[in-house]
Amino acid sequence: MKLENVVPLGRSLDEYKKMFDLSDLDFDKNIVGVGDGPASVNAELKELGKKYLSVDPVYIFSADEIENKFHQVVDNIFEQIEASPNSWVWSYHENPQALKNTRINVTTKFVADFEQGLQDGRYVSGELPNLHFKDDQFSLALCSHFLFLYSDLFSYEFHLKSVLEMLRIAGEVRIFPLLTLDVNKSDYVNPLIKELENQGYAVTVKKVNYEFQKGGNEMLSVSRG
Ligand SMILES: C[S@@+](CC[C@H](N)C(=O)[O-])C[C@H]1O[C@@H](n2cnc3c(N)ncnc32)[C@H](O)[C@@H]1O
Repeated sequence: MKLENVVPLGRSLDEYKKMFDLSDLDFDKNIVGVGDGPASVNAELKELGKKYLSVDPVYIFSADEIENKFHQVVDNIFEQIEASPNSWVWSYHENPQALKNTRINVTTKFVADFEQGLQDGRYVSGELPNLHFKDDQFSLALCSHFLFLYSDLFSYEFHLKSVLEMLRIAGEVRIFPLLTLDVNKSDYVNPLIKELENQGYAVTVKKVNYEFQKGGNEMLSVSRG
């Protein structure tokens, strides 16, 4: 992977709780975050004494490299957000500056935790659609702002393979959001649900209490039923 192709923009523990409809107690489960990148969820859970594992291809880079990349892209991303005001819901994030401050705080927390987390084995490099974990190693796999969002870069087959791989390592998989970068529902969602149901999985689409992309307040949950 090349760092140039990655948008290292991360979310907080509170955002993960809302996107995936999780309570504090849920974090007593054995959870893996797939494609967590520079999210601060792992660092914040460590502070709370909870066990949580993040896997992402970007973890082959150093904390400084990931942080530098964030600072290179952040202004451009916010220019694009400000140029498309109708695409966003300003409630959880009150305005672009508040959003930018949150993203900077998240990155700072991630960077401060990363080297220690690598040593602890809490950050592991790896990438979909093949993860080097054992069958059933986790009870829950979370995937935020990667699958569906980048539908123009990754094929339907990649999505199906990735979800089945996460179902191999975890009893339940949750994915958020179901929208693409241009704020439309991904064309992959409905065929993927149908295919997974045909294979005997229990699939639900749940409304959650987090919406930043307009209409992006649904989470997909898939389990072995
Ligand atoms: C927009 S970031 C989202 C980070 C985090 N999940 C969040 O919501 O705050 C997308 C992440 O997907 C990761 N990624 C890219 N290709 C991947 C792959 N094949 N498997 C898993 N993650 C991948 C990137 O490195 C990046 O960290």
